[in-house]
Amino acid sequence: MAIIAPSILSADFAILGEEVKKVAAAGADWIHIDVMDGAFVPNITLGPPVIQRLKEFCRDNQLAQPFDVHLMIERPERYIQDFAQAGADIITVQAEACVHLHRTLQQIQEAGCKPGVALNPATPLDQILYVLDDLYMVLIMSVNPGFGGQGFIYGMGPKIQALNDVIRHRGLQVLVQVDGGINGDTAGVAARAGCDVFVAGTAIFGQSDYAAAIAELRRKIAQARGTEAEE
Ligand code: DX5
Ligand code: ZN
Repeated sequence: MAIIAPSILSADFAILGEEVKKVAAAGADWIHIDVMDGAFVPNITLGPPVIQRLKEFCRDNQLAQPFDVHLMIERPERYIQDFAQAGADIITVQAEACVHLHRTLQQIQEAGCKPGVALNPATPLDQILYVLDDLYMVLIMSVNPGFGGQGFIYGMGPKIQALNDVIRHRGLQVLVQVDGGINGDTAGVAARAGCDVFVAGTAIFGQSDYAAAIAELRRKIAQARGTEAEE
């Protein structure tokens, strides 16, 4: 089963709740929330108060999609508690931003969230090999983080494949996520390499019909995997 996680970075922030409601109705499995601090990445987005309000809105509207919070911030250990309390279900930190990565992952777990680690395109897989057993998910960035709408870096296909090989070899259940430049043309590349979770911003929120956009991604993923078309 492919997990589709629309990134609200490309949503209309003036009507964020409605956008989440629409994308949930269109078949989103998770809601991907990009947090940027203007230090780790050049851009600044949103923080815990927005996530908290969005979570309340989802509860009020009986929307159960997990909040997949991607922290592109320096020293994320300072804010894990805040994001957990705000309603994050999965918290992914950038390996490059953590001095004590293992400790930060423990913090995420202790806060009651599922821990993920993201790797920038140039960061080797070695960075997470010794914490892999403690992870719910590894996020392979297929663009340099900071902005939506960038082009997929094709060299990340082999990286996803190599990660997938390690996970299988070690008999682990860790999910592999891809984020950046995912659309109908590139989702298949990630799917063939063994990706489980597909983040897409522009390819979903940039379209007028979110359901059709998600269905198209699922179709391309299923095609690449050589399986039946998924719902
Ligand atoms: C990039 C963010 C992504 C971004 C993806 O720094 O982490 O989640 O929103 O946007 P698209 O799908 O437009 O590349
Ligand atoms: Zn992201």
